[in-house]
Amino acid sequence: MSAELDTATLMKKQVGEAAAARVQSGSIVGLGTGSTAAFMIQSLGNRLKSGELKDIKGITTSFQGEVLARENGIPLTTLNEVDHIDIAIDGADEVDPQKNLIKGGGAAHFQEKLVAAFARQFIVIVDSSKLVNKLNLGFLLPVEVVPKALNPVSKAIEQLGGKPQLRMAVKKSGPVVTDQGNLILDVKFENGIDNPAELEKTLNNIPGVLENGLFVGLTDLVLVGEVVDGKPVIREI
Ligand code: 5RP
Repeated sequence: MSAELDTATLMKKQVGEAAAARVQSGSIVGLGTGSTAAFMIQSLGNRLKSGELKDIKGITTSFQGEVLARENGIPLTTLNEVDHIDIAIDGADEVDPQKNLIKGGGAAHFQEKLVAAFARQFIVIVDSSKLVNKLNLGFLLPVEVVPKALNPVSKAIEQLGGKPQLRMAVKKSGPVVTDQGNLILDVKFENGIDNPAELEKTLNNIPGVLENGLFVGLTDLVLVGEVVDGKPVIREI
């Protein structure tokens, strides 16, 4: 493992633990997906085991999260069994100065957006490499598409000026298949995304699109892990 990777991992761990520390006993908690959210789930499990935290219920956003939550002893519930979510905590692939996000690096953005949208508080946990001035100049925008609609949706996205590419699986032949059984188009807009709010709606209006990875106006707080003078610190945005 390189020294650089060590630092990035350390930042993810720090923000994951800082976010988990904000969860109070008795809460219903949305559990995000990805390597940063995994640290948060582990930390919640540790707080439960130590007795410091009691009586929480988690709502997962992916198969990965479900496995991790069970491994860490977090009791689970579902959106259909609750009337609210107190707090949801999740990672992100890009965060702009308005706290708009690109998510879906793990192809979990459909469930992640559902949970974030119903949460009373949505906390985003990232290392400092995720902060950008404009979305989509670096990270491609994930769009979840029903398989039967792959070609028409690709054409509609091209008409909007986007360049879609089908996300391919690693260690499995063929495309990535989401937890919902759909496909992912990763989309590049040449000059980045000028109006995330409008594009989020426009993409979701294309028949065959389940959800895209733009999260606009959902984030309450961003916890950023960064290294200052060689030491990891957490900044709030
Ligand atoms: C999964 C996501 C993740 O939260 C996002 O990809 C960030 O992951 P990581 O914390 O591993 O960098 O949106 O769909």
